[in-house]
Amino acid sequence: MAKNAQEMAQTHKAISISEFFEKNRHLLGYDNKIKALLTIIKEAVDNSLDACEEARILPDIYVRIKQLDEERYEIIVQDNGPGIVEKQIPKIFGKLLYGSKFHRHRQSRGQQGIGISGAVLYAQLTTGKATEIESSTGDGNLYNFRLKIDVSRNEPKIIEKGKAPNEDAWRGTRIKFIVEAVYREHKQSVLEYLKQTAIANPFANITFDSPNGRHVFVRGIEELPKEPKAIKPHLEGVEIGILSRMAHQTKARTVSGFLIEDFTRVGKKTAEEICKNAEVNPKTPPRKLVHDDFERLIKAIKKTKLINPPTDCLSPLGKDALISGLKKELNPIWVDAVVRSPAVYRGWPFQIEVGIAYGGDIKGSKVMRLANRVPLLYQAGDCAITKAVTHIDWKNYKLSSKDLSEDPIVIFVHMASVWVPFNSESKESIASYPVIIKEIKLAVQECARKLGIFLSGQIKAREIVERRRILEKYADDIARALANLTGESEEKIEKAIKELVEWRWGEVQEDENDAQQ
Ligand SMILES: Nc1ncnc2c1ncn2[C@@H]1O[C@H](COP(=O)(O)OP(=O)(O)OP(=O)(O)O)[C@@H](O)[C@H]1O
Ligand SMILES: [Mg+2]
Repeated sequence: MAKNAQEMAQTHKAISISEFFEKNRHLLGYDNKIKALLTIIKEAVDNSLDACEEARILPDIYVRIKQLDEERYEIIVQDNGPGIVEKQIPKIFGKLLYGSKFHRHRQSRGQQGIGISGAVLYAQLTTGKATEIESSTGDGNLYNFRLKIDVSRNEPKIIEKGKAPNEDAWRGTRIKFIVEAVYREHKQSVLEYLKQTAIANPFANITFDSPNGRHVFVRGIEELPKEPKAIKPHLEGVEIGILSRMAHQTKARTVSGFLIEDFTRVGKKTAEEICKNAEVNPKTPPRKLVHDDFERLIKAIKKTKLINPPTDCLSPLGKDALISGLKKELNPIWVDAVVRSPAVYRGWPFQIEVGIAYGGDIKGSKVMRLANRVPLLYQAGDCAITKAVTHIDWKNYKLSSKDLSEDPIVIFVHMASVWVPFNSESKESIASYPVIIKEIKLAVQECARKLGIFLSGQIKAREIVERRRILEKYADDIARALANLTGESEEKIEKAIKELVEWRWGEVQEDENDAQQ
Protein backbone atom coordinates (compact mmCIF):
# COMPACT_ATOMS: atom_id res chain seq x y z
CA MET A 1 0.00 0.00 0.00
CA ALA A 2 1.33 3.42 -0.96
CA LYS A 3 2.47 5.59 1.97
CA ASN A 4 2.44 9.34 2.26
CA ALA A 5 5.29 11.43 3.65
CA GLN A 6 3.69 11.66 7.13
CA GLU A 7 3.36 7.89 7.37
CA MET A 8 6.90 7.45 6.11
CA ALA A 9 8.15 9.96 8.66
CA GLN A 10 7.00 7.64 11.44
CA THR A 11 9.51 5.02 10.32
CA HIS A 12 12.54 7.34 10.39
CA LYS A 13 14.89 6.79 13.30
CA ALA A 14 18.55 7.03 14.19
CA ILE A 15 20.79 3.97 13.91
CA SER A 16 23.39 3.22 16.54
CA ILE A 17 26.90 2.49 15.31
CA SER A 18 26.78 -0.89 17.11
CA GLU A 19 23.61 -1.84 15.23
CA PHE A 20 25.29 -0.82 12.02
CA PHE A 21 28.32 -3.04 12.59
CA GLU A 22 26.18 -5.85 13.96
CA LYS A 23 24.61 -5.97 10.49
CA ASN A 24 27.86 -5.25 8.67
CA ARG A 25 30.35 -7.21 10.72
CA HIS A 26 32.27 -8.12 7.54
CA LEU A 27 33.43 -4.48 7.43
CA LEU A 28 35.28 -5.15 10.68
CA GLY A 29 36.88 -8.39 9.42
CA TYR A 30 34.27 -10.87 10.64
CA ASP A 31 33.10 -12.30 7.32
CA ASN A 32 34.04 -15.91 8.04
CA LYS A 33 34.87 -18.07 11.05
CA ILE A 34 38.56 -18.59 10.25
CA LYS A 35 39.17 -14.90 9.69
CA ALA A 36 37.13 -13.94 12.78
CA LEU A 37 39.63 -15.73 15.02
CA LEU A 38 42.50 -13.85 13.42
CA THR A 39 40.70 -10.50 13.62
CA ILE A 40 40.03 -10.84 17.36
CA ILE A 41 43.62 -11.77 18.16
CA LYS A 42 44.96 -9.07 15.87
CA GLU A 43 42.84 -6.37 17.52
CA ALA A 44 43.88 -7.44 21.02
CA VAL A 45 47.58 -7.98 20.26
CA ASP A 46 47.84 -4.71 18.31
CA ASN A 47 46.35 -2.87 21.29
CA SER A 48 48.75 -4.59 23.69
CA LEU A 49 51.75 -3.63 21.57
CA ASP A 50 50.50 -0.05 21.20
CA ALA A 51 49.94 0.27 24.96
CA CYS A 52 53.35 -1.23 25.84
CA GLU A 53 55.13 1.01 23.35
CA GLU A 54 53.37 4.11 24.59
CA ALA A 55 54.19 3.25 28.22
CA ARG A 56 57.78 2.38 27.14
CA ILE A 57 57.51 -1.22 28.40
CA LEU A 58 59.18 -4.14 26.56
CA PRO A 59 56.13 -6.24 25.61
CA ASP A 60 55.50 -9.77 26.86
CA ILE A 61 52.39 -10.98 25.11
CA TYR A 62 50.58 -14.22 25.82
CA VAL A 63 47.96 -15.63 23.43
CA ARG A 64 45.96 -18.80 23.99
CA ILE A 65 43.36 -20.40 21.74
CA LYS A 66 41.49 -23.33 23.28
CA GLN A 67 38.87 -25.35 21.45
CA LEU A 68 35.72 -25.78 23.54
CA ASP A 69 33.45 -27.36 20.97
CA GLU A 70 33.42 -28.03 17.23
CA GLU A 71 33.22 -24.35 16.28
CA ARG A 72 33.55 -22.72 19.67
CA TYR A 73 36.83 -21.34 21.01
CA GLU A 74 38.09 -19.56 24.08
CA ILE A 75 40.63 -16.85 23.29
CA ILE A 76 42.92 -15.25 25.85
CA VAL A 77 45.24 -12.34 25.16
CA GLN A 78 47.34 -11.00 28.00
CA ASP A 79 49.93 -8.23 28.13
CA ASN A 80 52.31 -6.64 30.61
CA GLY A 81 51.31 -3.14 29.47
CA PRO A 82 50.33 -0.14 31.60
CA GLY A 83 46.88 -1.58 32.38
CA ILE A 84 43.62 0.35 32.03
CA VAL A 85 42.07 2.46 34.76
CA GLU A 86 38.85 0.99 36.15
CA LYS A 87 36.58 3.78 34.92
CA GLN A 88 37.69 3.40 31.28
CA ILE A 89 37.33 -0.38 30.98
CA PRO A 90 33.55 -0.47 30.23
CA LYS A 91 33.71 2.20 27.51
CA ILE A 92 36.86 0.80 25.85
CA PHE A 93 35.38 -2.68 25.54
CA GLY A 94 31.66 -1.90 25.43
CA LYS A 95 31.31 1.13 23.16
CA LEU A 96 32.18 1.26 19.48
CA LEU A 97 34.17 4.31 18.36
CA TYR A 98 35.78 5.03 21.71
CA GLY A 99 39.54 5.25 21.97
CA SER A 100 42.62 7.35 22.50
CA LYS A 101 44.17 7.28 19.02
CA PHE A 102 41.63 8.69 16.53
CA HIS A 103 42.17 12.36 17.37
CA ARG A 104 45.89 12.08 17.85
CA HIS A 105 48.13 12.26 14.79
CA ARG A 106 50.87 9.87 15.71
CA GLN A 107 52.00 6.54 14.31
CA SER A 108 50.21 3.70 16.09
CA ARG A 109 48.74 0.32 15.21
CA GLY A 110 45.21 1.26 16.09
CA GLN A 111 43.59 4.44 14.86
CA GLN A 112 39.82 4.11 14.78
CA GLY A 113 38.60 3.27 18.28
CA ILE A 114 36.55 0.34 17.11
CA GLY A 115 38.88 -2.69 17.15
CA ILE A 116 38.42 -4.22 20.56
CA SER A 117 34.73 -3.37 21.05
CA GLY A 118 34.14 -4.91 17.59
CA ALA A 119 35.59 -8.16 18.96
CA VAL A 120 33.31 -7.99 22.03
CA LEU A 121 30.35 -7.45 19.69
CA TYR A 122 31.32 -10.48 17.56
CA ALA A 123 31.61 -12.68 20.67
CA GLN A 124 28.16 -11.74 21.98
CA LEU A 125 26.66 -12.04 18.52
CA THR A 126 27.92 -15.57 17.86
CA THR A 127 27.88 -17.20 21.33
CA GLY A 128 25.87 -14.78 23.47
CA LYS A 129 28.76 -14.74 25.93
CA ALA A 130 30.12 -11.70 27.74
CA THR A 131 33.81 -10.81 27.38
CA GLU A 132 35.95 -10.96 30.51
CA ILE A 133 38.54 -8.29 31.19
CA GLU A 134 41.05 -8.19 34.02
CA SER A 135 43.37 -5.26 34.37
CA SER A 136 45.65 -3.60 36.85
CA THR A 137 47.81 -0.53 36.67
CA GLY A 138 50.22 -2.21 39.08
CA ASP A 139 48.76 -0.74 42.26
CA GLY A 140 47.01 -2.72 45.00
CA ASN A 141 43.91 -3.57 42.96
CA LEU A 142 43.03 -5.98 40.19
CA TYR A 143 39.77 -5.06 38.46
CA ASN A 144 37.67 -7.56 36.57
CA PHE A 145 34.64 -7.05 34.38
CA ARG A 146 32.26 -9.24 32.41
CA LEU A 147 30.77 -7.04 29.72
CA LYS A 148 28.53 -6.94 26.71
CA ILE A 149 27.41 -4.10 24.47
CA ASP A 150 23.93 -2.62 24.63
CA VAL A 151 23.64 -2.60 20.85
CA SER A 152 20.72 -0.22 20.43
CA ARG A 153 22.38 2.44 22.62
CA ASN A 154 26.02 1.65 21.77
CA GLU A 155 26.79 1.68 25.49
CA PRO A 156 28.53 -0.89 27.71
CA LYS A 157 26.35 -3.38 29.61
CA ILE A 158 28.20 -4.55 32.73
CA ILE A 159 27.16 -8.12 33.59
CA GLU A 160 29.52 -8.45 36.53
CA LYS A 161 32.30 -6.44 38.05
CA GLY A 162 34.74 -7.09 40.84
CA LYS A 163 37.89 -5.98 42.56
CA ALA A 164 40.54 -8.19 44.12
CA PRO A 165 43.79 -7.45 45.91
CA ASN A 166 46.71 -7.45 43.51
CA GLU A 167 49.24 -9.04 45.83
CA ASP A 168 52.11 -9.58 43.43
CA ALA A 169 51.60 -6.07 41.94
CA TRP A 170 50.95 -7.58 38.48
CA ARG A 171 50.43 -4.93 35.83
CA GLY A 172 48.72 -5.39 32.51
CA THR A 173 45.51 -6.43 30.81
CA ARG A 174 44.00 -9.86 30.19
CA ILE A 175 41.01 -10.40 27.93
CA LYS A 176 38.98 -13.59 27.48
CA PHE A 177 36.50 -14.06 24.63
CA ILE A 178 34.25 -17.03 23.85
CA VAL A 179 33.52 -17.03 20.13
CA GLU A 180 32.26 -19.09 17.24
CA ALA A 181 35.27 -19.68 15.02
CA VAL A 182 37.45 -22.16 13.15
CA TYR A 183 41.18 -22.61 13.78
CA ARG A 184 43.45 -23.36 10.82
CA GLU A 185 47.20 -23.05 10.29
CA HIS A 186 47.50 -21.75 6.74
CA LYS A 187 48.96 -18.69 5.08
CA GLN A 188 46.39 -16.29 6.57
CA SER A 189 46.36 -17.82 10.03
CA VAL A 190 46.90 -16.55 13.57
CA LEU A 191 50.27 -18.31 13.53
CA GLU A 192 51.35 -16.48 10.37
CA TYR A 193 50.12 -13.16 11.83
CA LEU A 194 52.14 -13.74 15.03
CA LYS A 195 55.22 -14.78 13.06
CA GLN A 196 55.12 -11.63 10.94
CA THR A 197 54.35 -9.57 14.06
CA ALA A 198 57.50 -11.01 15.64
CA ILE A 199 59.55 -9.94 12.59
CA ALA A 200 58.13 -6.40 12.59
CA ASN A 201 58.32 -6.05 16.39
CA PRO A 202 61.60 -7.79 17.28
CA PHE A 203 61.51 -6.14 20.74
CA ALA A 204 58.44 -8.20 21.75
CA ASN A 205 58.24 -11.63 23.38
CA ILE A 206 55.21 -13.50 22.12
CA THR A 207 54.03 -16.87 23.46
CA PHE A 208 51.23 -18.60 21.63
CA ASP A 209 49.45 -21.67 23.01
CA SER A 210 47.59 -22.90 19.93
CA PRO A 211 45.21 -25.87 19.82
CA ASN A 212 48.18 -27.76 18.29
CA GLY A 213 50.90 -26.79 20.77
CA ARG A 214 53.07 -23.92 21.93
CA HIS A 215 54.98 -21.47 19.72
CA VAL A 216 57.41 -19.01 21.25
CA PHE A 217 58.74 -15.94 19.44
CA VAL A 218 61.64 -14.69 21.52
CA ARG A 219 62.59 -11.01 21.39
CA GLY A 220 65.67 -10.36 19.28
CA ILE A 221 66.44 -6.82 20.49
CA GLU A 222 66.10 -5.24 23.92
CA GLU A 223 65.24 -1.76 22.73
CA LEU A 224 61.87 -0.26 21.98
CA PRO A 225 61.52 1.75 18.77
CA LYS A 226 61.94 5.50 18.92
CA GLU A 227 58.83 7.13 20.37
CA PRO A 228 56.88 8.88 17.60
CA LYS A 229 55.70 12.44 18.28
CA ALA A 230 52.12 13.57 17.69
CA ILE A 231 51.68 16.20 14.98
CA LYS A 232 48.93 18.66 14.11
CA PRO A 233 47.14 18.34 10.75
CA HIS A 234 48.90 19.66 7.66
CA LEU A 235 47.25 22.24 5.40
CA GLU A 236 47.90 20.28 2.20
CA GLY A 237 44.72 18.57 1.14
CA VAL A 238 42.58 20.15 3.89
CA GLU A 239 38.94 20.36 2.78
CA ILE A 240 36.42 23.12 3.37
CA GLY A 241 34.30 21.11 5.83
CA ILE A 242 37.25 20.37 8.09
CA LEU A 243 38.66 23.91 7.85
CA SER A 244 35.36 25.50 8.85
CA ARG A 245 34.75 23.02 11.70
CA MET A 246 38.25 23.61 13.05
CA ALA A 247 37.81 27.39 12.75
CA HIS A 248 34.70 27.18 14.91
CA GLN A 249 36.42 25.03 17.54
CA THR A 250 39.76 26.81 17.73
CA LYS A 251 41.12 28.61 20.77
CA ALA A 252 43.02 31.04 18.50
CA ARG A 253 41.65 34.58 18.38
CA THR A 254 42.64 35.49 14.82
CA VAL A 255 42.61 33.69 11.48
CA SER A 256 46.35 34.05 11.23
CA GLY A 257 46.78 32.60 14.76
CA PHE A 258 44.40 29.77 13.85
CA LEU A 259 46.47 28.76 10.81
CA ILE A 260 49.72 28.95 12.80
CA GLU A 261 48.56 27.19 15.96
CA ASP A 262 46.18 24.53 14.66
CA PHE A 263 48.22 23.30 11.70
CA THR A 264 51.74 21.98 11.46
CA ARG A 265 54.55 23.93 9.78
CA VAL A 266 52.64 27.19 9.19
CA GLY A 267 54.70 30.25 10.13
CA LYS A 268 53.59 33.88 10.40
CA LYS A 269 54.72 34.64 6.84
CA THR A 270 52.80 31.72 5.30
CA ALA A 271 49.67 32.52 7.34
CA GLU A 272 49.75 36.14 6.20
CA GLU A 273 50.34 35.14 2.59
CA ILE A 274 47.32 32.82 2.68
CA CYS A 275 45.12 35.55 4.23
CA LYS A 276 46.32 38.11 1.68
CA ASN A 277 45.62 35.81 -1.29
CA ALA A 278 42.22 34.96 0.17
CA GLU A 279 41.41 38.61 0.85
CA VAL A 280 40.67 37.82 4.48
CA ASN A 281 41.87 40.13 7.23
CA PRO A 282 44.38 38.05 9.27
CA LYS A 283 43.06 39.65 12.48
CA THR A 284 39.45 38.43 11.92
CA PRO A 285 38.22 36.14 14.73
CA PRO A 286 37.96 32.64 13.15
CA ARG A 287 34.36 32.23 14.33
CA LYS A 288 33.30 35.22 12.25
CA LEU A 289 34.44 33.65 8.97
CA VAL A 290 31.63 32.87 6.54
CA HIS A 291 31.33 30.31 3.77
CA ASP A 292 32.79 32.58 1.06
CA ASP A 293 35.83 33.30 3.26
CA PHE A 294 36.48 29.57 3.62
CA GLU A 295 36.15 29.03 -0.14
CA ARG A 296 38.75 31.75 -0.77
CA LEU A 297 41.01 30.45 2.00
CA ILE A 298 40.97 26.93 0.50
CA LYS A 299 41.87 28.35 -2.93
CA ALA A 300 44.69 30.42 -1.40
CA ILE A 301 46.03 27.40 0.52
CA LYS A 302 46.21 25.42 -2.73
CA LYS A 303 48.27 28.18 -4.32
CA THR A 304 50.69 28.57 -1.40
CA LYS A 305 53.96 26.67 -1.22
CA LEU A 306 53.74 24.71 2.02
CA ILE A 307 56.60 23.19 3.99
CA ASN A 308 56.36 19.39 4.31
CA PRO A 309 55.17 18.07 7.68
CA PRO A 310 57.82 17.02 10.23
CA THR A 311 58.74 13.36 10.20
CA ASP A 312 59.49 12.74 13.87
CA CYS A 313 55.90 11.50 14.10
CA LEU A 314 57.08 8.37 12.26
CA SER A 315 58.86 5.41 13.75
CA PRO A 316 60.02 3.04 11.02
CA LEU A 317 61.66 -0.24 11.99
CA GLY A 318 65.01 0.79 10.54
CA LYS A 319 67.42 -1.27 8.46
CA ASP A 320 69.11 -3.17 11.30
CA ALA A 321 65.92 -4.20 13.11
CA LEU A 322 64.35 -5.23 9.82
CA ILE A 323 67.31 -7.39 8.82
CA SER A 324 67.56 -8.90 12.31
CA GLY A 325 63.82 -9.74 12.34
CA LEU A 326 63.97 -11.40 8.91
CA LYS A 327 67.10 -13.38 9.82
CA LYS A 328 65.65 -14.51 13.15
CA GLU A 329 62.37 -15.84 11.77
CA LEU A 330 63.28 -16.96 8.22
CA ASN A 331 66.93 -18.04 8.32
CA PRO A 332 67.67 -17.02 4.70
CA ILE A 333 71.05 -17.22 2.90
CA TRP A 334 70.76 -13.60 1.78
CA VAL A 335 68.95 -10.64 3.31
CA ASP A 336 69.05 -6.87 2.93
CA ALA A 337 66.78 -3.87 3.49
CA VAL A 338 66.12 -0.39 2.15
CA VAL A 339 64.56 2.47 4.11
CA ARG A 340 63.20 5.35 1.99
CA SER A 341 63.12 8.95 3.17
CA PRO A 342 59.70 10.08 4.40
CA ALA A 343 57.16 11.26 1.80
CA VAL A 344 53.71 12.85 2.06
CA TYR A 345 50.24 11.86 0.83
CA ARG A 346 47.30 14.25 1.33
CA GLY A 347 49.31 16.10 3.95
CA TRP A 348 50.11 12.96 5.98
CA PRO A 349 53.75 11.91 6.27
CA PHE A 350 54.59 8.29 5.54
CA GLN A 351 57.69 6.20 5.06
CA ILE A 352 58.29 2.96 3.18
CA GLU A 353 60.84 0.34 4.13
CA VAL A 354 61.49 -2.93 2.38
CA GLY A 355 63.40 -6.06 3.32
CA ILE A 356 64.13 -8.96 1.00
CA ALA A 357 65.15 -12.39 2.26
CA TYR A 358 66.22 -15.11 -0.14
CA GLY A 359 66.91 -18.86 0.02
CA GLY A 360 67.88 -20.82 3.12
CA ASP A 361 64.78 -22.06 4.96
CA ILE A 362 62.42 -20.06 2.71
CA LYS A 363 60.12 -22.17 0.54
CA GLY A 364 58.23 -20.47 -2.28
CA SER A 365 57.61 -16.75 -2.62
CA LYS A 366 55.68 -14.47 -0.32
CA VAL A 367 54.95 -10.77 -0.03
CA MET A 368 54.60 -9.69 3.59
CA ARG A 369 52.53 -6.49 3.80
CA LEU A 370 52.65 -4.41 6.95
CA ALA A 371 51.22 -1.09 8.08
CA ASN A 372 52.51 0.50 11.26
CA ARG A 373 54.14 -2.82 12.22
CA VAL A 374 50.89 -4.77 11.78
CA PRO A 375 50.84 -7.64 9.26
CA LEU A 376 48.04 -7.43 6.70
CA LEU A 377 46.89 -10.91 5.72
CA TYR A 378 43.69 -10.35 3.74
CA GLN A 379 42.55 -8.28 0.73
CA ALA A 380 45.99 -8.60 -0.91
CA GLY A 381 44.60 -7.87 -4.38
CA ASP A 382 43.28 -4.47 -3.31
CA CYS A 383 46.48 -3.39 -1.59
CA ALA A 384 48.90 -0.74 -2.86
CA ILE A 385 51.78 -3.01 -1.78
CA THR A 386 50.64 -5.93 -3.98
CA LYS A 387 50.04 -3.58 -6.89
CA ALA A 388 53.56 -2.15 -6.63
CA VAL A 389 55.28 -5.54 -6.24
CA THR A 390 53.39 -7.33 -9.04
CA HIS A 391 54.23 -4.61 -11.54
CA ILE A 392 57.91 -5.43 -11.28
CA ASP A 393 59.50 -7.83 -13.77
CA TRP A 394 61.59 -9.95 -11.39
CA LYS A 395 63.59 -11.54 -14.19
CA ASN A 396 65.39 -8.19 -14.47
CA TYR A 397 66.83 -8.92 -11.02
CA LYS A 398 68.09 -12.41 -11.95
CA LEU A 399 65.20 -14.29 -10.37
CA SER A 400 64.00 -17.44 -12.16
CA SER A 401 60.51 -16.18 -12.90
CA LYS A 402 58.89 -12.90 -13.89
CA ASP A 403 56.26 -13.17 -11.13
CA LEU A 404 58.38 -14.91 -8.45
CA SER A 405 56.39 -18.14 -8.79
CA GLU A 406 59.57 -20.27 -8.83
CA ASP A 407 61.75 -18.44 -6.31
CA PRO A 408 62.41 -18.88 -2.56
CA ILE A 409 61.92 -15.24 -1.61
CA VAL A 410 60.17 -13.10 0.99
CA ILE A 411 59.52 -9.46 0.18
CA PHE A 412 58.66 -7.55 3.31
CA VAL A 413 57.09 -4.11 2.75
CA HIS A 414 56.29 -1.81 5.66
CA MET A 415 54.38 1.46 5.46
CA ALA A 416 54.74 3.64 8.55
CA SER A 417 52.36 6.60 8.72
CA VAL A 418 50.53 8.93 11.03
CA TRP A 419 47.35 7.87 9.28
CA VAL A 420 47.36 4.74 7.11
CA PRO A 421 44.71 5.01 4.36
CA PHE A 422 43.07 1.61 4.82
CA ASN A 423 40.50 0.45 2.29
CA SER A 424 38.05 -0.53 5.05
CA GLU A 425 37.50 -0.51 8.82
CA SER A 426 38.95 -4.01 9.02
CA LYS A 427 42.37 -2.47 8.18
CA GLU A 428 43.48 -5.22 5.78
CA SER A 429 44.82 -3.36 2.76
CA ILE A 430 46.29 0.04 1.89
CA ALA A 431 44.54 2.38 -0.56
CA SER A 432 46.36 2.90 -3.86
CA TYR A 433 47.45 6.55 -3.69
CA PRO A 434 49.89 6.98 -6.63
CA VAL A 435 52.59 8.51 -4.40
CA ILE A 436 52.40 5.50 -2.04
CA ILE A 437 52.69 3.01 -4.92
CA LYS A 438 55.62 4.98 -6.34
CA GLU A 439 57.50 4.97 -3.03
CA ILE A 440 56.93 1.21 -2.55
CA LYS A 441 58.12 0.46 -6.08
CA LEU A 442 61.30 2.53 -5.66
CA ALA A 443 62.14 0.83 -2.36
CA VAL A 444 61.45 -2.68 -3.67
CA GLN A 445 63.46 -2.05 -6.83
CA GLU A 446 66.43 -0.69 -4.88
CA CYS A 447 66.48 -3.73 -2.62
CA ALA A 448 65.90 -6.08 -5.59
CA ARG A 449 68.96 -4.60 -7.33
CA LYS A 450 71.09 -5.70 -4.37
CA LEU A 451 69.59 -9.18 -4.56
CA GLY A 452 70.27 -9.19 -8.32
CA ILE A 453 73.98 -8.55 -7.68
CA PHE A 454 74.10 -11.45 -5.25
CA LEU A 455 72.22 -13.76 -7.61
CA SER A 456 74.40 -12.92 -10.62
CA GLY A 457 77.41 -13.69 -8.43
CA GLN A 458 75.85 -17.05 -7.63
CA ILE A 459 75.08 -17.76 -11.28
CA LYS A 460 78.68 -16.92 -12.22
CA ALA A 461 80.04 -19.12 -9.43
CA ARG A 462 77.86 -22.00 -10.62
CA GLU A 463 79.16 -21.58 -14.18
CA ILE A 464 82.74 -21.64 -12.94
CA VAL A 465 82.17 -24.81 -10.95
CA GLU A 466 80.66 -26.40 -14.07
CA ARG A 467 83.58 -25.31 -16.30
CA ARG A 468 86.05 -26.67 -13.77
CA ARG A 469 84.17 -29.95 -13.55
CA ILE A 470 84.30 -30.37 -17.34
CA LEU A 471 88.01 -29.54 -17.55
CA GLU A 472 88.84 -31.97 -14.75
CA LYS A 473 86.71 -34.64 -16.38
CA TYR A 474 88.67 -34.42 -19.65
CA ALA A 475 92.11 -33.76 -18.10
CA ASP A 476 93.17 -37.43 -18.66
CA ASP A 477 92.17 -37.40 -22.34
CA ILE A 478 93.78 -34.02 -22.99
CA ALA A 479 96.99 -35.11 -21.21
CA ARG A 480 97.15 -38.30 -23.28
CA ALA A 481 96.64 -36.41 -26.56
CA LEU A 482 99.24 -33.77 -25.64
CA ALA A 483 101.72 -36.46 -24.54
CA ASN A 484 101.38 -38.11 -27.95
CA LEU A 485 101.89 -34.83 -29.75
CA THR A 486 104.77 -33.48 -27.66
CA GLY A 487 106.48 -36.61 -26.40
CA GLU A 488 106.26 -35.30 -22.80
CA SER A 489 105.19 -37.62 -19.96
CA GLU A 490 101.39 -38.00 -19.58
CA GLU A 491 101.54 -37.65 -15.75
CA LYS A 492 103.49 -34.40 -16.00
CA ILE A 493 100.98 -32.86 -18.45
CA GLU A 494 98.00 -34.04 -16.38
CA LYS A 495 99.54 -32.53 -13.22
CA ALA A 496 100.16 -29.26 -15.08
CA ILE A 497 96.54 -29.12 -16.33
CA LYS A 498 95.19 -29.76 -12.82
CA GLU A 499 97.45 -27.08 -11.35
CA LEU A 500 96.29 -24.67 -14.05
CA VAL A 501 92.61 -25.42 -13.31
CA GLU A 502 93.23 -24.97 -9.58
CA TRP A 503 95.11 -21.73 -10.14
CA ARG A 504 92.58 -20.28 -12.60
CA TRP A 505 89.15 -21.47 -11.34
CA GLY A 506 89.91 -22.37 -7.75
CA GLU A 507 90.79 -18.79 -6.92
CA VAL A 508 87.93 -17.31 -8.94
CA GLN A 509 85.52 -19.59 -7.14
CA GLU A 510 86.80 -18.43 -3.75
CA ASP A 511 86.53 -14.79 -4.80
CA GLU A 512 82.96 -15.30 -5.96
CA ASN A 513 82.10 -16.94 -2.65
CA ASP A 514 83.59 -13.98 -0.79
CA ALA A 515 81.47 -11.59 -2.84
CA GLN A 516 78.29 -13.38 -1.80
CA GLN A 517 78.76 -12.80 1.92
N1 LIG B 1 45.68 -3.78 26.29
C1 LIG B 1 45.46 -2.46 26.45
N2 LIG B 1 46.17 -1.75 27.34
C2 LIG B 1 45.96 -0.42 27.50
N3 LIG B 1 45.04 0.30 26.80
C3 LIG B 1 44.30 -0.36 25.91
C4 LIG B 1 44.46 -1.76 25.68
N4 LIG B 1 43.55 -2.13 24.75
C5 LIG B 1 42.88 -1.02 24.40
N5 LIG B 1 43.32 0.06 25.08
C6 LIG B 1 42.79 1.46 24.95
O1 LIG B 1 41.50 1.32 24.43
C7 LIG B 1 41.30 2.14 23.28
C8 LIG B 1 40.32 1.48 22.33
O2 LIG B 1 40.87 0.34 21.71
P1 LIG B 1 40.38 -0.07 20.26
O3 LIG B 1 41.15 -1.25 19.81
O4 LIG B 1 38.90 -0.23 20.29
O5 LIG B 1 40.69 1.22 19.38
P2 LIG B 1 42.08 1.78 18.83
O6 LIG B 1 43.16 0.81 19.11
O7 LIG B 1 42.23 3.16 19.33
O8 LIG B 1 41.80 1.85 17.24
P3 LIG B 1 41.44 0.64 16.24
O9 LIG B 1 39.97 0.60 16.14
O10 LIG B 1 42.05 1.06 14.96
O11 LIG B 1 42.00 -0.61 16.83
C9 LIG B 1 42.70 2.33 22.72
O12 LIG B 1 42.75 3.55 22.00
C10 LIG B 1 43.56 2.35 23.98
O13 LIG B 1 43.59 3.64 24.53
MG1 LIG C 1 42.94 -1.21 18.53
